[in-house]
Amino acid sequence: MTSGVLAIDQGTTNTKALLIDASGIIVARASVPVAVTHPQPGWAEQSGEAIWQSVQAAVDECLRVRSDVKLASIGISNQRESVLLWDRATGDALGPCVTWQCRRSTERLAPLRRPEVETLVAGKTGLGLDPLFPAAKIGWLLDNVAGARAAAKAGTVCAGTVDSWLLSKLTGGKVHATDFSNASRTQLFDIHRLCWDDELARLFDAQIALLPQALPSDSVFGVTVAQGAIPQGLTVGAMMGDSHAALYGHGIRAPGAVKATYGTGSSLMTLTERPVLSRNGLSSTIAWGVGGNVAYALEGNISVSGQAAAFATSLLGLPDEAALARLAQSVESSDGVFFVPALAGLGAPHWRADVRGLFTGMSLSTRPAHFARATLEAIALQIYDVFVAMQADRGMQLSALSADGGASRNDLLMQIQSDVLQKPVRRSRVAELSAIGAGIMAGIRAGLWSEEHALSGLITEADVFAPTAGESSRDRLVAGWRSAIDQAIAGTR
Ligand code: G3P
Repeated sequence: MTSGVLAIDQGTTNTKALLIDASGIIVARASVPVAVTHPQPGWAEQSGEAIWQSVQAAVDECLRVRSDVKLASIGISNQRESVLLWDRATGDALGPCVTWQCRRSTERLAPLRRPEVETLVAGKTGLGLDPLFPAAKIGWLLDNVAGARAAAKAGTVCAGTVDSWLLSKLTGGKVHATDFSNASRTQLFDIHRLCWDDELARLFDAQIALLPQALPSDSVFGVTVAQGAIPQGLTVGAMMGDSHAALYGHGIRAPGAVKATYGTGSSLMTLTERPVLSRNGLSSTIAWGVGGNVAYALEGNISVSGQAAAFATSLLGLPDEAALARLAQSVESSDGVFFVPALAGLGAPHWRADVRGLFTGMSLSTRPAHFARATLEAIALQIYDVFVAMQADRGMQLSALSADGGASRNDLLMQIQSDVLQKPVRRSRVAELSAIGAGIMAGIRAGLWSEEHALSGLITEADVFAPTAGESSRDRLVAGWRSAIDQAIAGTR
């Protein structure tokens, strides 16, 4: 019987599970969709129970395919900043899981938008004020889920991000914990002192007593109780936010390299020697806590990225995203059309939750193919803006971009990305790099392989896209994009 690890990546629109054997080969994989609902414009929520069921279904499918693999550990990566409450005794969710894209806490943040508060929050957490982050969402849930405030006072409620929710479910409600990377995205965690912060909890009207224990990412978080195909007594040996896990999965262990995950949104991350206070609209975050050390990163979050392609596919009445790519490929340029996919506001480096999507530059010659191409260009141009901000914060040129995530499978997008950046783009051969990162960390923790072995053998190879277009056409595209962004922002006034 061969041994291996189970890697779970719980993403916004689907849950993926991989079974990685001891030689580092993915021997089974499964993907199960999860619904997101939008009860009001700008709101986004999910059912915590449906998230858990999708994990169970994906794991069941993987383990059914290869029941001969002896599991050594589970690694979890997850959509970050989505938050929910649950009953400490029954483990049942209380209210919805308010997802990272949801803007319902916008008004709660308005009174906090004062320079002294923003400086305090950024100084402790590395994050600017934005409804993306869970702190204000917890306050909203406590005030809007029937009985939640009273139950919180009575100590019968847990709050947590999706990693801690899944951990609670996997361990039969015995463990309420999270890892440093997920904690660092809540806006309630002091990333320097590595603890929850009372002053922040008071500011956002949340309560520290509700929050999970924050531990290093390679901790023994707990052991499973038997449920469906999940066996009894299996260690959960790694947890990380998905973007952090992808950075780890790329094999990036030192400052200088940058990766972009093309998921529902996008996250660019580069390791830094210490927390960096961005002057260019980026966040400072904990990459992971591993082997007794904490690694820090600079990050730029884009609210809608791969999801823009799904949106345009449905808007244009196309059967699937492959058809969108073919349509985009049928024209040489977007002919002056730009799409600002601010469908859930603009994230880094603009941080304007109030801005909404916009198509500009249409003329009588505009055809659906131009919309399709403008959509792929928009994904690449948003990444470009964050890449440039990252170079400015680091005070250096970054030499290439490592890419992963579902939308990175699109060759035309990767080519446009390389042309826009005028740098090589190295795309991982495996799309599920977040799961791979969490799986590798869990495997190292379980003694299945060493860090050196993981770096030399398990980290997947990449396809490289080199620039083919000249700098001047890139500059024209960027100038048109900047003007479209300005118009979108001006449209909110
Ligand atoms: O910060 C949100 C991010 O973690 C969501 O990831 O893969 O679901 O788009 P994804």
